[in-house]
Amino acid sequence: MSHAEDTDGSRRDFLYYATAGAGVVATGAAVWPLVDQMNPSADVRALSSIQVDVGSVVEGQQITVKYLGKPVFIRLRTQEDIDLARSFDVDKLRDTDSRNPNKPGPATDENRTLDDEGKWLVMIGVCTHLGCVPIGNQSGDFGGWFCPCHGSHYDSAGRIHKGPAPENLYIPVASFVDETTIKLG
Ligand code: FES
Repeated sequence: MSHAEDTDGSRRDFLYYATAGAGVVATGAAVWPLVDQMNPSADVRALSSIQVDVGSVVEGQQITVKYLGKPVFIRLRTQEDIDLARSFDVDKLRDTDSRNPNKPGPATDENRTLDDEGKWLVMIGVCTHLGCVPIGNQSGDFGGWFCPCHGSHYDSAGRIHKGPAPENLYIPVASFVDETTIKLG
């Protein structure tokens, strides 16, 4: 075998492998979009609905979970919270709660809570003024949440009473899956 033939042979081998390699890459590229198309829908499904175990939440405690990029407050209210929320005149409230996806308006305490007894309150923890996260645990002048950014006061049902916020804290789509599990979305 001459040196020239050897070189040609190497080049042919190189071209062959390069082509084969390109074929493999092409196959890989064709598979990814398919897998890719399947993954987002699974992700979106998972994100649009989450389940939260609330079995260890005690009365008077609020937990915050992240749902669709926002904090969601889940509070197991005390009897004091419930009595206070139900003592306000709904007709005098600023916001009628027509957006409540579970029970649209009026903004009664009963319509805002998840269970009939009114123990579980689930709300999006974002101030309806400019989007700060309000402080909870019976804060502010109305025994609920207080937003220190510009001084918005929400009651123990998350309804706005005082300050610049125009609307009550939003209620997300939520339901009980079983006694200790709340599903968001
Ligand atoms: S963002 Fe809450 S009062 Fe302004």
